[in-house]
Amino acid sequence: MVRIQKTPDPPQVLVLPSDAAASIKVAEIFDQAVRENPEIVLGLATGGTPVGCYRELVRRHREEGLSFASVTSFNLDEYVGLPPDHPQSFRHFMQTKLFDHLDIESARTHVPNGMASDLASHAAAYEQAIRQVGGIELQLLGIGHNGHIAFNEPGASFDSRTRVVDLTETTIESNARFFDRPDEVPRTAITMGIGTILEAKRIVLLATGKDKSEAVRLSIEGAVHTDHPASLLRTHPDVTFVLDAPAASGLSG
Ligand code: PGA
Repeated sequence: MVRIQKTPDPPQVLVLPSDAAASIKVAEIFDQAVRENPEIVLGLATGGTPVGCYRELVRRHREEGLSFASVTSFNLDEYVGLPPDHPQSFRHFMQTKLFDHLDIESARTHVPNGMASDLASHAAAYEQAIRQVGGIELQLLGIGHNGHIAFNEPGASFDSRTRVVDLTETTIESNARFFDRPDEVPRTAITMGIGTILEAKRIVLLATGKDKSEAVRLSIEGAVHTDHPASLLRTHPDVTFVLDAPAASGLSG
């Protein structure tokens, strides 16, 4: 296991009073970035955490003229074996929570295809597609209870790229809440790597709720170590942790 020796700069940490306020803050960051560069390439995330942020972006699109007409997006990950229209697939999540309600062009939205017949080639092509558009300018992340970012579980290497990974039992348990039965949760996923994520020019990690406080504390105040993937973000020059007060409650100062 690799311990990163570089002394990291402290990341920017914004603490908002509530989940709603933290979600609006992240939406504001994305709103500003899209208005500054209407052709921006965004990195997007799924899970329970970004739902409020996506709702706010949809509101801003409807009520405040925020347009995604020239935006390109790449999602972090997808379950292997779920078709795009499966209710628990991340493609389906993105369509129903965000894309269907925006003016974004469908062809410019990218989510890894968990049904690709050759997943390794698909992963390589995904990396290539990101490179072809000049890289991701602004990447949204959540964090798992075990410190994972995207589906990069503890131990994932610093320079990992988009690939197929096994999910850990804790991730499978935590995601079981979205499925009818725990045995329906896929065991593998295709995910951008840590190396892929760290190439984004700017990264915003949103974490809400007391249950994330220990994962957040280790990310910001613990060792920069592959045992806790989110801690590796501290080697990035432009990362912001946006937290609600409960998620920030484990931080020392
Ligand atoms: P969550 O997942 O937003 O559903 O808590 C976050 C993650 O696992 O990255």
